[in-house]
Amino acid sequence: MRIAIINGPNLNLLGTRETDIYGNIPFEKFLKQLKKKYPKVKFEYFQSNIEGELINELQRVGFDLDGIILNPAGYTHTSVGIGDAIAAIKTPVIEVHISNVHAREDFRKISHISGKAVGSIFGLGLKGYELAVEWFLQQ
Ligand code: DQA
Repeated sequence: MRIAIINGPNLNLLGTRETDIYGNIPFEKFLKQLKKKYPKVKFEYFQSNIEGELINELQRVGFDLDGIILNPAGYTHTSVGIGDAIAAIKTPVIEVHISNVHAREDFRKISHISGKAVGSIFGLGLKGYELAVEWFLQQ
């Protein structure tokens, strides 16, 4: 099982960024724990603050991996291009948000991703990434 995790802008600052919303664990630390918990899963991790780089990565991994877990962060609410990339690739994508985007500002209720993803998880913290892995493993 090969799973890519792709994180969008500002998620490189997890652990220090708005910790009341996103918690105080750096993503790299969480990823280490995830790899330990699922030793048979081969994870590929990519983070970028640049929209086109996220699209390039989706196209790169999107034809032969088993699953993609995508948190497009702020681009969720603005990026037609990322939504189109998900529609264009073959690998199923699960959209994950750490915070409950529906309980925040109105602009966060819009997602260009949800309609193209197989499913979406939001508001469950970093646990959402783990639940997405579980879903892929049970397919
Ligand atoms: C986020 C929610 C987005 O609205 C926000 O722009 C982010 C993080 C989340 O994981 O909760 O950067 O995707």
